Amino acid sequence: MQQRNKAKDVGFERSRMMRFLLAIVLIIFSVQIWADEGQAGYELVLSKAPINRLDMESIKRGAKFFATTCMSCHTLVYLRYNKLAQEAGITYDKMPINVTTWPNGIKPPDLSLEASIRGVDWIYTYLHSFYQDSSRPTGMNNLLVHNTGMSGILAAYQGDQALVKDPMANADFRGQVEWYDLVQLTRQGTMTPEQFDTTTADVVNFLSYAAEPYRAEQEHLGWWVIGFLVVLFFMMYALKREYWKDVKKRKAE
Ligand code: HEC
Repeated sequence: MQQRNKAKDVGFERSRMMRFLLAIVLIIFSVQIWADEGQAGYELVLSKAPINRLDMESIKRGAKFFATTCMSCHTLVYLRYNKLAQEAGITYDKMPINVTTWPNGIKPPDLSLEASIRGVDWIYTYLHSFYQDSSRPTGMNNLLVHNTGMSGILAAYQGDQALVKDPMANADFRGQVEWYDLVQLTRQGTMTPEQFDTTTADVVNFLSYAAEPYRAEQEHLGWWVIGFLVVLFFMMYALKREYWKDVKKRKAE
């Protein structure tokens, strides 16, 4: 009798535990859905950065563009001993290390690890989504970083963009939009949209390289390791069959 009661108690405890866990899971899910809703009724999804980490030419082009366009403000301190970076003109003495006075008091962050922190798709989308906003001291705002401190240096290439009047009109059935659904080009810059896409993809590819210079090599090596494990699996399987042959034979005798 005693025993049975105990068993019942344990069952009761367990079902209470399960209900508690279920409640937590449901709460997490509902918070998630609530967070995804966004205030304006649409959700900005990141655009996929069209990069190929094995394409060294693209990385080099990105490094050159960084040296000439971004390095007047941003540093890349972890890359100061990197050969590829040095060849593109990214050297420690040319980085704005000692600059202390920045426009509006906002210091541009170091971008050495930016691709690891934000992700490549985030940077690609950020670089595309500047738009004109006369209420800002820089005259520029950004869809991803509201009231960003970065000025519109990319507008020279991309052109001027303005917010569209009715972003919901461009949203898909889930209410999701990409940056180009929210802004429109009002003046073309020195690059066509395709050239701008390629250039920003190159810079993003370079920043991805900057964050993890050995990543391509590691991924390459990873395939060899997996290949080795597959070969090893078949060899081990053959060996197992060989051993068990004797065991089975002896059992049959
Ligand atoms: C005129 C100076 C200036 C130039 C040139 C410039 N930036 Fe910036 N950038 C800034 C400032 C300032 C911020 C900080 C924005 C903030 O925190 O609101 C920033 C922020 C960023 C961020 C976001 C950092 C984060 O995680 O919030 C990225 C990515 C970035 N810049 C990339 C670039 C790239 C790539 C280039 C070259 C194409 C470039 N920037 C050129 C000033 C500049």
